[in-house]
Amino acid sequence: MTRIKAFSFDAGELAITWENASQSRLQAIWLRDHCQMPSSRNRNNGQRLLNITDIPTDIAIGEVSLADDRIIVEFEPDGHRSEFDLDWLYRNCYCLNRPYDDRSEAGKILWHGLSFGQALPRCAYPQFREQPRSRLPALQAVRDYGFVLLDSVPCEPGQVLRVIDAFGYVRETNYGALFEVRASVDPSNLAFTNLGLGCHLDNPYRDPVPGIQLLHCLESSTEGGESILQDGFMAAKLLRDENPEHFELLSRNRVNFRFHDDSADLRARAPFIEVNDLGQVVKVRFNNRSIDTIMLPPDLMRRFYPAYRHFAEILERDDLQVVFKLQPGELILFDNTRVLHARSAYSAAGTRHLQGAYSDLDGLYSSLRMLQAGQ
Ligand code: OGA
Ligand code: ZN
Repeated sequence: MTRIKAFSFDAGELAITWENASQSRLQAIWLRDHCQMPSSRNRNNGQRLLNITDIPTDIAIGEVSLADDRIIVEFEPDGHRSEFDLDWLYRNCYCLNRPYDDRSEAGKILWHGLSFGQALPRCAYPQFREQPRSRLPALQAVRDYGFVLLDSVPCEPGQVLRVIDAFGYVRETNYGALFEVRASVDPSNLAFTNLGLGCHLDNPYRDPVPGIQLLHCLESSTEGGESILQDGFMAAKLLRDENPEHFELLSRNRVNFRFHDDSADLRARAPFIEVNDLGQVVKVRFNNRSIDTIMLPPDLMRRFYPAYRHFAEILERDDLQVVFKLQPGELILFDNTRVLHARSAYSAAGTRHLQGAYSDLDGLYSSLRMLQAGQ
């Protein structure tokens, strides 16, 4: 149980020295806003009942006392009384804890081409499907490395959608709930040819982009057609290490992306590298096929292109890429805001047939947390 060694307060702030000597300084307005009493929070679902504008602008701490495992704060001028559980206050104190963030590079394990040896993060699909607990390491791999390979997925159409059912929800798009990846005549997208595709993230012309992509191999009897993965957060880190100004240019300036065919005109404007308030990478967005006209003021344009080329060169470095041939029955599931994918060209002879689908990261992270809580 968390205990308090000493506390003091004035109208604006409550200062606590905890038993382990760590210190909290909690402002009156924050305490009132985070009141956990039934008048402030719904007892059943924990949702906040008050709005910030309901709190008096001159809110102040009038009295503070301790009772067992709680600290009681009485506010002025409205006489409101809040009891805070000490464990809760310690865990939620903004002096002692960092804001929750499991999307940024700070919470990831960055990798390059040799990081895994022959052992890519992998999971057997039959267990994944039948036993919720066995999904845990696979979903953790997606969180930490940005991808996982599932094997023994039946070579039947529609399996990508069943896989998504096990951890989240299908993100349907203009390509359908699922899409066929195979060579076709006069396709709307170069993915549906036997050409090689450079490292890219899918659907950068959507806002938000689908956070998860799946590709399931049903047939593969062509020469070539290897799959390539690469850690976009590692590429962004290398760009920052090698030339901080290039990193700044790509994270501060936005680029237009577009996809256009007979039935859709999709556009989004976003930076190649998105950072959070701490300057940490949270998303990459790169796809040479669907970058629209780049428009920047002339002076910025001069500086932007070397940065853009530098990042694209990093994305072509062999030593960052994991290369493997997806076999029938294998499915790759990856974070489409982080891990770039590519494929080498393949022969006209033979058949290569993948089915793809999208989902969102929030559903996957939610399933992961529920599984962890149930451990
Ligand atoms: C795609 C794609 C890769 C492949 O469909 O988005 O990149 O291996 N396909 O065919
Ligand atoms: Zn793709």
